Amino acid sequence: MDQNALKEQTGKESVKYIKSGMIVGLGTGSTVKYMVDELGKQVQEGKIKDIIGVTTSNRTAKQARDLGITIKDIDDVDHIDLTIDGADEISDDFQGIKGGGGALLWEKIVANVSNKVMWIVDESKLVHKLGAFPLPVEVIPFGSQHVFDRLEKKGYKPTWRMDGDEKFRTDENNYIIDLHLGEIDDPKALADELIHMVGIVETGLFLNRVNDVIVGTPEGPKVLHAR
Ligand code: 5RP
Repeated sequence: MDQNALKEQTGKESVKYIKSGMIVGLGTGSTVKYMVDELGKQVQEGKIKDIIGVTTSNRTAKQARDLGITIKDIDDVDHIDLTIDGADEISDDFQGIKGGGGALLWEKIVANVSNKVMWIVDESKLVHKLGAFPLPVEVIPFGSQHVFDRLEKKGYKPTWRMDGDEKFRTDENNYIIDLHLGEIDDPKALADELIHMVGIVETGLFLNRVNDVIVGTPEGPKVLHAR
C-alpha cells in the first residue's frame, strides 16, 4: 500500500471517535484532509449530528465549511472534546514533531485546550528518536534574520521555509525556519531553549501532548495509547 492509501485509512478510521454533539479540533495536512472529507460525508448523511469544529488552519476551515461542517472560532468555545491532527514524526515515547504543513502555532493552541488529542499517521512517521524530520520553528518577521543567524551559530542548520520565490507565511503571517538536526537527544531541553529565544513564537516540538495515535499499516489501522 502506498503512503496516501495509509493516510486515507487512518483518516477515515479516526472519524469513528467523533460522536454527535462533540466540539472537535480539526488539524491540518494531507492525512487530516481525508478525515475531514469522511466527517463531512457523515455529517451530510446525518450519521453524526450537532458537531462543532475548531480548525487549526484557514485551509482546514475552508474544506470543513465547504462540506457543511459548522466551524467556530477557538475563543467562542469553552473547551474542545477531541482534536484529531496529523504529525510528522512520533518517537517511541510519544513525543512529536509537527508543523510540516506550517500550522504548528494554531495546532499547539488547539491541542492545549483539548480534553483529548489523537494523532493520525501512516507508519512511516513512527521513529525511535525525533529529528530526522526538520524541526519547524515559527518566527515573527521583524528581526527574523537575526534569529536565523543565531540558530546557525548554534549549529542547528536552519533553512527558510519557502513558498516559490517568497518566504512561506503562516496563517499568523509569520515565517518558518526549519532546523535540520538529524537526531534530537533531549527534546525538552531543546524546546525550552528555543521558546526562550526572542522572536521565536512556537516550535514544532509537541511534547506530552497526545493521548492516542492511529497508525495506518498494510494490516489495517492500529491504535496506540500514549497516556
Ligand atoms: C501541519 C502538520 C501536519 O499535521 C503534519 O505535517 C502531517 O502532515 P501530513 O498528514 O500531510 O503528512 O503538523 O502543520
